[in-house]
Amino acid sequence: MTIESSIWADGVFDCYHTGHANAFRQSSKLGERLFAGVHSDADVQLQKGAAPVMTEEERVLIVGACKWVDHVVGDAPWTTDLAVCEQHCGSNFYVAHGNDDSLSHDGSDPYEYVKKAGRLKHFERTKGVSTTDLVSRLLEHESNQQLSPEERSPYTGGNSFLLPSSLLAAFYDKCKPRKKGDSVVYIHGAFDILHPGHLDIIKEASRQYDHVIVGVWKDEVVTKHRGEPYPILSMQERSLMVLSLRGVDDVILGAPSSIDDKFLSMLDIDSVLAGPSMYGNFNPNENVSGNKLKILSIDSKFADFSYLTLTDRVLSRRHVYEERNRKKEARELASIKNKSVA
Ligand code: CTP
Repeated sequence: MTIESSIWADGVFDCYHTGHANAFRQSSKLGERLFAGVHSDADVQLQKGAAPVMTEEERVLIVGACKWVDHVVGDAPWTTDLAVCEQHCGSNFYVAHGNDDSLSHDGSDPYEYVKKAGRLKHFERTKGVSTTDLVSRLLEHESNQQLSPEERSPYTGGNSFLLPSSLLAAFYDKCKPRKKGDSVVYIHGAFDILHPGHLDIIKEASRQYDHVIVGVWKDEVVTKHRGEPYPILSMQERSLMVLSLRGVDDVILGAPSSIDDKFLSMLDIDSVLAGPSMYGNFNPNENVSGNKLKILSIDSKFADFSYLTLTDRVLSRRHVYEERNRKKEARELASIKNKSVA
């Protein structure tokens, strides 16, 4: 009898982005079951010099909603511990990490023991997207302390995410094809940096309907309704992130923000599901017939969570994040320089 191999992929996974989703997608192909380890807020504070933007509870919820993750483990040790991996994964496991450098605050390698045991598998880090850059984009809008191009690291600096159709097709993995007679629901919005409020509505939609289609608004529409610097993530990034969530069956890339019954009948959609506080003053569903519009009513502690919650958190700790990002990029550049000298 062969024992199923498990994969352990750990990280901070703060402000869940396309790179994280693609990391889970690739890791899931390296074994039969994927365990995601999420580091604690205290460890992130110690190792990165600033608390994560999202709490461990929020990060665990979002990582657990990724369709490629089978189990999520909170409070995962910063330095990957073989005994902890074995406790969750069983004896036949490997650890997966992107092909970028990962350093602890004291300069040590958090994968030292995994490497010595010959259990590390690498996957391709997704270029052009990182939490560091995402936070920088929010900060740069409010600050004149921008890093010069020479100070930016190729790992975490400078957003330049591009979406090849092969990656889009790969993200369609595990989506349920629509069947004749399926009840079909539509949810739409900006989905700019996923948060637990988004998960609530998607979970509810997939509980109530057979087929869930999510419309991701064009960048210019998001800017029109929210102002600069939004969206923080491009329409391509936001679409992939949504497509990586369990319960989402299809995504309309660059969907219009105002919809009507004609739009719904063109796509054979039965109902639109909307959260009570999803859109602020703007009502994108005002031309949808009342019998087709369902307003979500669930009792969730994240009901008031919005993109502004995350913006407020970043801006209220602006100096801490500026310092952290500067140090992180400087550390990565130094490590690249050392490798090229050696
Ligand atoms: N990862 C990736 N592609 C990215 C960003 C992260 O493949 N663009 C992978 C990392 O290599 C790691 C996992 O996602 O295996 C978790 O990364 P995390 O600890 O969240 O990332 P950091 O690299 O610390 O943060 P950042 O997103 O700022 O790079």
